[in-house]
Amino acid sequence: MTTALTDIIKAEIRANGPMSVSRYMTLCMTHPEYGYYTQKNPLGTQGDFITAPEISQLFGEMIGLWFADIWMQMGAPQHVSLIECGPGRGTLMVDFLRGTQHVKGFYDALHIKFVEVNEALIQEQKRKIKHPHVSWINTLEEGFESDVPTFIIGNEFLDALPFKQFQRTESGWAERVIGLDDAGAFSWGLVPVAEPPFFPAGVSSGAVFEHAPLREEIVRQADMQLQASGGASIFIDYGFISGHGDTFQAVKEHKHVDVLSSCGEADLTSHVDFKALCDVVQLQSHLSTQGQFLQHLGIELRAQQLSQNATSRQKEELKKALKRLCDKDEMGDLFKVMALVHAENVTLNPAGF
Ligand SMILES: C[S@@+](CC[C@H](N)C(=O)[O-])C[C@H]1O[C@@H](n2cnc3c(N)ncnc32)[C@H](O)[C@@H]1O
Repeated sequence: MTTALTDIIKAEIRANGPMSVSRYMTLCMTHPEYGYYTQKNPLGTQGDFITAPEISQLFGEMIGLWFADIWMQMGAPQHVSLIECGPGRGTLMVDFLRGTQHVKGFYDALHIKFVEVNEALIQEQKRKIKHPHVSWINTLEEGFESDVPTFIIGNEFLDALPFKQFQRTESGWAERVIGLDDAGAFSWGLVPVAEPPFFPAGVSSGAVFEHAPLREEIVRQADMQLQASGGASIFIDYGFISGHGDTFQAVKEHKHVDVLSSCGEADLTSHVDFKALCDVVQLQSHLSTQGQFLQHLGIELRAQQLSQNATSRQKEELKKALKRLCDKDEMGDLFKVMALVHAENVTLNPAGF
């Protein structure tokens, strides 16, 4: 499918030569006129994909309780910055606030900040979140206040940020790039690169390695802010803790499509390399699978509570949602949770890990 953005990208390749995956993804996702996230509202059953908060209120409630627990251990500070990166339809935050409404003083202490690029989603978040302290910012760093404890959430945010791909060849490492063939169609190519230290050693020819400096930068910024002002961060995404490979994917209307088709019309992502993220932080990082994390926090108990006053149809939906969020063959194992915590009096092993 040729889109307006396809022509723009091809023109840039003709002018400047083959394009990195990172540049291709930046244009496809955030081109000011035709970018996927700048233009489309991609979430939900009507959209291209569905995320954990859209599956069930249980998800946002558990995340809320995780932060409320840390807040109480911190001595219930009266002012904390709660920054959510890529809040989508605002569903996680609605459930976060409802799930923690009985934690005295917590709601009033929060200064909520949303890092969001999509105007339609910003409008939806504004309709849903009526908290007295809520604002919209362009970057994570904009939400940092010195000496104010900071809570940071990113659910399926990091995977949407650009990354580069490299491939091992017989003669060393090369970057995978997107060029044009004689007929003017997109085609993959390789450009030799020097061997920086982050490449895995001892891999065979043909192996692909992905590197995402922007994702590392977000996590590094979170780590530094938590060290300076105290607080906690949690990033949840599909990804791996060890290994490497070609995980570049495009999803449109809940189906996988070719990554070079439908520029700006399909969601482009890759799996998040959680080991690489843990390597850039100085605080101790806590890692778990989504399934284990939610189960340790008591998601089953909360589902039982909700079931007590539910219709039989709602009970069935709750059961299905629980399975989808936690089962190993659904989201439970594929999705990982990475947390950083830094605050006085807070236990070394936060709940859920
Ligand atoms: C996959 S959606 C996840 C939404 C939500 N967290 C959820 O779980 O339903 C990614 C979100 O990040 C936002 N986003 C993507 N790239 C962004 C960027 N570079 N800066 C700010 N927000 C971005 C999107 O608009 C969207 O809200």
